[in-house]
Amino acid sequence: MKNTDYSKIAETYNKSKTRHYIQPDPNISELIYKKKYRRVLDIGCGTGNYLLKQKAYFKNKADIQWFGIEPSEAMFSVLSESVKDQDITTKQAAAEAIPFEDDYFDYVICNHSYHHFVDKEKAFQEIYRVLKRGGRYYINTIHPYEMKKSWVYQFFPSVYEEDILRFYPEEKLFQTLEATGFETRVEKRVFTYRKSMLLIQEEAALRNYSQLHLISDANYQEGLQAMEAYMKSNKTLLIEHAKLYPLSYKD
Ligand SMILES: C[S@@+](CC[C@H](N)C(=O)[O-])C[C@H]1O[C@@H](n2cnc3c(N)ncnc32)[C@H](O)[C@@H]1O
Repeated sequence: MKNTDYSKIAETYNKSKTRHYIQPDPNISELIYKKKYRRVLDIGCGTGNYLLKQKAYFKNKADIQWFGIEPSEAMFSVLSESVKDQDITTKQAAAEAIPFEDDYFDYVICNHSYHHFVDKEKAFQEIYRVLKRGGRYYINTIHPYEMKKSWVYQFFPSVYEEDILRFYPEEKLFQTLEATGFETRVEKRVFTYRKSMLLIQEEAALRNYSQLHLISDANYQEGLQAMEAYMKSNKTLLIEHAKLYPLSYKD
C-alpha cells in the first residue's frame, strides 16, 4: 500500500469543514457512567480535533486524562500548537509501537487513521497491550467497498484501486480484530444523498484528503477538469458514503 506524506497536508488539514463534525463520543459517555476516572488515547490523532472536541464535551462530567499519538512530524507540529495549555499528553509515535505501558488505557480510538497503519496486525496487538482488561477500542472509518459512487471515486477513479490496498474488507477487519484477542461488534452505515458540486469542488481543491495524494498530479488535474465539465450542466452529484464502526472489547 502507498502511504501519504502528511507534510503536504498538515498546513491545510483543518480547513476542511468535514474535519470538524465531531459529536460527543457515546463510548466515553458509557465508560464514565461506570467510573468517573478514565484514560483515553487517540491514535493517529492528527491535529487534535477529536481530543479537543471530546475534552470540551466531557469537561465537568468526569475526570478524564487525554492522550494522543501522531507519527507525522508536520501534523505533530500543528497538534502541539493546538493542544498547548490544554492538559492533553501527546507523543510523536505510530500505532505499531505505542510508547505506553501495558494495561494503561480504558479507551482507545482511531478516528480515520487505521487505514494508514502499515502493519495493522502489529498495531492492533499494540492497542490490545495498552488497553486495560474491560477496555474498549473503537474505529471510525470510511468503507470504500460500499461507496464506489463517492465523489472522490467518481472524479478520481484511480484512487479506488489505492484505497482497497489500505482499507480492509469488512470481514477481514473483523477477523483481524478477533484474532488479536478482541471481542468485536461491527456497525455499518451506508448513505446515499445529493451533494452540492460547489462544496465538492471546494474540498477537492484543498487536496487535503490523503486519498488525493495517492494519485499523480496529472491524474488529480484530470479529475478537477472532469469536475469542471460536469458542473457546466449540474449543480449536485448523487453520492454514496459508507462507514464502519468496529467496537472491540478486551475481556
Ligand atoms: C486522516 S488523518 C486523521 C487525523 C485525526 N484522527 C482526525 O480525525 O482528524 C490520519 C492520521 O493518521 C496518521 N498516521 C499515519 N500512519 C500512522 C500510524 N502508523 N500510526 C498512527 N497514526 C498514523 C497520519 O499521520 C494522520 O495524522
